[in-house]
Amino acid sequence: METELDKELANLRARISELETVINISPAMTFRWRVADGWPVEFASESVSQLGYSADDFVSGRVSWPGITLPEDCARLEKEVGDILAAGGSEFHNEYRLITKSGEVRWIADRNRVIRDRDGNVTHIQGVAMDITERRETESELKGSQKMLRSLAKHLQSAVEEERTRVSRQVHDDLGQALTGLRMDLAWLARRLQSGESAGGNCDEILEKVDQMFELIDSTAVSVRELCTELRPGILDDLGLEAAVEWGCERFSERTGIECVHRLRLHENQPDDLVATAFFRILQECFTNIFRHAAAQSVSIQLNAQNGMYVLVVKDDGKGITEEDANSQQSIGLIGMRERAHAVGGEIQVCGEEGRGTTVTATVPIQRIPAADEESCL
Ligand SMILES: Nc1ncnc2c1ncn2[C@@H]1O[C@H](COP(=O)(O)OP(=O)(O)O)[C@@H](O)[C@H]1O
Ligand SMILES: [Mg+2]
Repeated sequence: METELDKELANLRARISELETVINISPAMTFRWRVADGWPVEFASESVSQLGYSADDFVSGRVSWPGITLPEDCARLEKEVGDILAAGGSEFHNEYRLITKSGEVRWIADRNRVIRDRDGNVTHIQGVAMDITERRETESELKGSQKMLRSLAKHLQSAVEEERTRVSRQVHDDLGQALTGLRMDLAWLARRLQSGESAGGNCDEILEKVDQMFELIDSTAVSVRELCTELRPGILDDLGLEAAVEWGCERFSERTGIECVHRLRLHENQPDDLVATAFFRILQECFTNIFRHAAAQSVSIQLNAQNGMYVLVVKDDGKGITEEDANSQQSIGLIGMRERAHAVGGEIQVCGEEGRGTTVTATVPIQRIPAADEESCL
């Protein structure tokens, strides 16, 4: 006959088997280690199969936990755990890397409880380990992009400062000097008029001075126009991207002596202001890079609208960017270019071939969904 005790025993067995099922199907790996040399495993849940090993591999001692821990992490762990046990700790957790059976390195986080016998001697450790590789990867990607953003912001700030210094110097030198010159000329004229030297129709000298003043005013007006054009080419707003690219090419050739050919085929697909500005600034950065780094003889530029995309290709015949430079987090100019393209839903490809030049390709979808905050991208 079934006694109360039998019933309770059956109940307990059923609960234990239920718990075992939960432990075995859980993504967490559960262990019970004996505290002895090599950390022998007394229990391992089936879920260790995610590492490519079986529970029996551990229990039989064929595989040991320290044996599959990355050596540099293993040394650190042994010390940390030893310290905790010596200090009488009852719980600890660690993050470290394991090598799976197929040789893959995975990040593991474990939480452990220290088990002691009646005399207080540590006998076992019971632990739950989770694979946190994805979390670690996301964290390191996040750190990488935060670092990149910081250096981009720093670069932008110093670029703005540099630009301000240049503009202020140009205003000071060109406009300041012209105004001082004109003021001196006016003072001269005033003296002449006051002294009555010009009375009696002898105006030649005065007229000559007035002519010089006209010339100075005209050349100053040219400087002002140039300065404004450099800050933002009006041609981009007035005549559109193709005209601005054409103008940019001519100016680049004139200034650097590097030949610049272009083929511009946008036809009826004229990009909006933001896209036009992004392309133009990308082209300017390409020109600066070619002048600074490429040692090129010639540059060819193509601007097309094809397969739903605006495509700008800038190709030089210089020494060719290295793959390392093309993908480096330090290449702030290139990152800035990528950010400009991203801001209008596009992307940039940079590739170089040693001794045969560099090609920068910017693509932006013709039909794009404007971002809510995109005014700030101009
Ligand atoms: N057209 C090019 N030809 C050869 N090398 C290039 C070219 N453009 C860029 N590079 C290389 O890539 C690096 C990164 O470019 P960039 O991010 O614009 O930075 P910066 O121009 O300030 O050095 C440059 O320092 C240069 O070595
Ligand atoms: Mg650059």
